[in-house]
Amino acid sequence: MTSSSHAGDARAKPTHTAVVGLQWGDEGKGKIVDLLTASHDVIVRYNGGANAGHTVVVGPQRYALHLIPSGILYPDKVCVIGNGVVVDPEKLIQEIDALRARGIEVGDNLKVSDRAHVVMPYHKEHDAALENVLASRAPGPGSKAGEQAGVDLSIGTTKRGIGPAYADKVHRSTAIRMGDLLDADLLLRKLRVICAIRSAELAALGVNAPPLDPVELTRTFAALGRRLAPRITDTTYLLHGYLAERRAILFEGANACLLDIDHGTYPYVTSSNCSTLGIPAGTGVPGSNITRVMGIMKAYTTRVGAGPCPTELVDELGDRIRQRGNEYGTTTGRPRRCGWLDLVAVRYSAMVCGATALAVMLLDVLSGFDELKLCTRYRLPDGSLSDRFIPDAERMAKVSPVFETLPGWREELDEAADRSSLPLNAQQYLRRIEEIVGVPIEIISVGPERTQTLTSA
Ligand code: GDP
Ligand code: IMO
Ligand code: MG
Repeated sequence: MTSSSHAGDARAKPTHTAVVGLQWGDEGKGKIVDLLTASHDVIVRYNGGANAGHTVVVGPQRYALHLIPSGILYPDKVCVIGNGVVVDPEKLIQEIDALRARGIEVGDNLKVSDRAHVVMPYHKEHDAALENVLASRAPGPGSKAGEQAGVDLSIGTTKRGIGPAYADKVHRSTAIRMGDLLDADLLLRKLRVICAIRSAELAALGVNAPPLDPVELTRTFAALGRRLAPRITDTTYLLHGYLAERRAILFEGANACLLDIDHGTYPYVTSSNCSTLGIPAGTGVPGSNITRVMGIMKAYTTRVGAGPCPTELVDELGDRIRQRGNEYGTTTGRPRRCGWLDLVAVRYSAMVCGATALAVMLLDVLSGFDELKLCTRYRLPDGSLSDRFIPDAERMAKVSPVFETLPGWREELDEAADRSSLPLNAQQYLRRIEEIVGVPIEIISVGPERTQTLTSA
């Protein structure tokens, strides 16, 4: 580890930082984690799984990270996958191999919690099959031939098995954790029971496949366990050891606050606590250690999958943002829904996450618009105005956005040198964000590359 650590200096107290998305994901967390990694020693993922897609661009190289923390490009830092993450071991090994093939060192510097839950193949099948049934594209349990298609209740998940894996975590007795992969006998005992239950469930969801084979699954997953064994450890003690050594820790949020299972637009959310509130439970590190919370937000709004998005633009303006911002999912390639910046939502997320600073990303995408709109309040069905976000999809679907209109700018921003050299209308746009959210902007991003970053602290 480098001099950003404070080992040996009894007085220096490192800053432990959280990086968290304040919208519906894909805000540019990967880019900021990569940037801030330089001043931290340990980078920790605390939630989610391979549903995340974090992009880091370094010169001509573009890396899409799904399970491995975005700090991995620095060989002298430690990356940790905490207990709150659900790990697909096959995907993790693929990601390690792909990075190594590109010359990135993934050795002793990547650790995985023995208590992180395992995403099994049947979780992914269940995820896809349930989505299919909920979208009424397939016959559901108890449906009759020729029955009329019902309402679409699908979430638009990434089909990475996230929901079913977290459901097993809560079920307890049908769950498998990374540590279990190291004990083939235990794994087989568990899988004999689990496979019988899951095979029946998958059949009920309309999956036409042979019953799951516990022996085969044990063979495969014990082998994956052997491969990952040197990395699997008690990461809670590991992290507390780093805290005691005064190493600086960076907590990398996946997904985002409005997708948080408790605080997002339920049920159109993911299955973990992706706000900063998930950090203590997902790592074993008390939240009181974290003094800096960098809230990451796009200069506009995007969302992938179903669920309310009051400021969505389903017109040419939305298409323009999608094209300029290249708004296609890092994990699934789906086009992202685009809209004006919803500051009711961002202010809410900043409150829930305790944001101490903001990073405003993709500001360059907004060049060339005559005017820009900021949503500052919602109009409720009874006609009244509210400045409160509603973390409930049914009720959120009934609000309409109330906008403040600001003048746009024509200049491209991708080569801007600092905040004060931005066009005046861009500066005004940023000031309004700070005023309405009530949190200072520390980072402004004007392009995907490390160098296309303005700091205004
Ligand atoms: P994450 O999931 O929050 O890490 O975000 P994603 O990587 O899924 O999506 C953000 C996308 O925006 C990626 O393709 C980034 O390379 C890109 N990006 C990040 N910052 C900027 C920026 O300031 N301008 C532009 N044009 N692209 C950016
Ligand atoms: P990053 O970390 C954007 C969305 C999915 C879906 C819902 C539930 O790259 O910002 P899931 O597969 O988690 O059960 O899907 O949550 N979703 C994301 N959207 N970025 C993400 O991660 C997301 N992770 C989950 O599109 O609507
Ligand atoms: Mg993403």
